[in-house]
Amino acid sequence: MKVTVVGAGNVGATCADCIAQKDIVNEVVLLDIKEGVAEGKSLDMWQTAPINVYDTRIKGVTNDYSATAGSDVVVITSGLPRKPGMSRDDLISTNAGIVKSVTENIIKHSPDTIIVIVSNPLDVMCYCAYLAAKIDSSRVFGMAGILDTARYKAFLAEALNISPKDIQALLLGGHGDTMVPLPRYTTVAGIPVTELMDSDQLNAIIERTKVGGGELVKLMGTSAWYAPGAAAAQMVEAIVRDSKRVFPVCTLLNGEYGLKNIYLGVPVVLGKKGIEKVIEVSLDSEEKKLLEESAKAVKGVMDVLDGMKMF
Ligand code: NAI
Ligand code: 2OP
Repeated sequence: MKVTVVGAGNVGATCADCIAQKDIVNEVVLLDIKEGVAEGKSLDMWQTAPINVYDTRIKGVTNDYSATAGSDVVVITSGLPRKPGMSRDDLISTNAGIVKSVTENIIKHSPDTIIVIVSNPLDVMCYCAYLAAKIDSSRVFGMAGILDTARYKAFLAEALNISPKDIQALLLGGHGDTMVPLPRYTTVAGIPVTELMDSDQLNAIIERTKVGGGELVKLMGTSAWYAPGAAAAQMVEAIVRDSKRVFPVCTLLNGEYGLKNIYLGVPVVLGKKGIEKVIEVSLDSEEKKLLEESAKAVKGVMDVLDGMKMF
C-alpha cells in the first residue's frame, strides 16, 4: 500500500508521521513545492523508525509527481493556513488554484486513488477537487468532522473529568463556525451527556467547539496541526485497513438530509472503496434548521468558487 501526502507543512508532515507510526502501509511519499523541505522532513521522520519501531518507508520529493504514481490514498494539505483575523473562507482565492492543480497532477499519476482533502475552506476545496479529479465522489472527500468531534470530545472529557475514550459524539455540517454538534447524539459510555452536565455547561462547550480552530489560530498565529494531522491519518487507516469505521466526513450529498450537490460533513462508513455508505440520522426541527444554515454558509463559498470560473 502506498500513500501520498501533498504539502509538507505543519499538517502534512504531522499526517505523514502519524501514518508511518501506525505501520499500516509500505510507503508514504511527502510532496511539497519548497525545494528540499519534504526531503528533509521525510529523512528526519525515517530516522525515527528505529525508535518508534515501524517499517513504513517515507520519501520526500519536490514537486515530482512521478514519485506519487500508483498511490492508493492521497491526502491533500497544500495551501495557505489561516492567520489571526482570517476565516477559513478567506483562503479560497489562493487555495482553489493550488487544490485544482495538485488534484490534476495526482489523478494523472494515480487514476484509481482515493483523495482526502484537508486544505481550507474544506467543504468547498472538496468540491473543487471533485470537479478537477472527474472521478466518483465516493473517492473524493474531506477531513473536518473527526477533528471537530475530537475537539468537542476533548472539551467534554476535561469538563467531566473522564477519559475521552468513553465519549461518543456526532457533529454535522460544514467546517466553519456554523458546524452542528449534536448533544442528542452525545453519550458517555452509553449515558446521554445531558444526564451528566447541565445545559448551560453543554452549550458553552458546543460554542467553544464551533470556534475551536479560531481559538488555536489566536494562540499560535497559524492554524492547528497535531489534531488535524492525526485525524487525516485516522481516515487513511480506515481506508487501507478496509475497517468500515463510522466517521463524520465531508462528502458530496445527493439528496441525503434533503441537500443536493453540496459537500458537507455527515456520518459515513469508510472502507477500501472510500465512502461506502452515507448514514442518515433523524434530526428534529431545530437540528434541521442548524444544518440548513451551515449548508447556506457553504453554498455562499461555493458561489465564490463558481465566480472564479476555473471549471
Ligand atoms: P503550512 O503552511 O504549514 O503548509 C502548507 C504547505 O503547502 C507548505 O509547505 C507549502 O509549501 C505547500 N504548498 C503550497 N502550494 C503547494 C503546491 N502547489 N504543491 C505542493 N505543496 C504546496 O499549512 P498547514 O498548517 O499545514 O495547513 C495546510 C492547509 O490545511 C491549510 O489550508 C489549512 O487551512 C488547512 N487545515 C485544514 C484543517 C481541516 O480540519 N480540514 C485543519 C488544519 C488546517
Ligand atoms: C482548524 O480547524 C483552521 O481548519 C483549521 O484548525
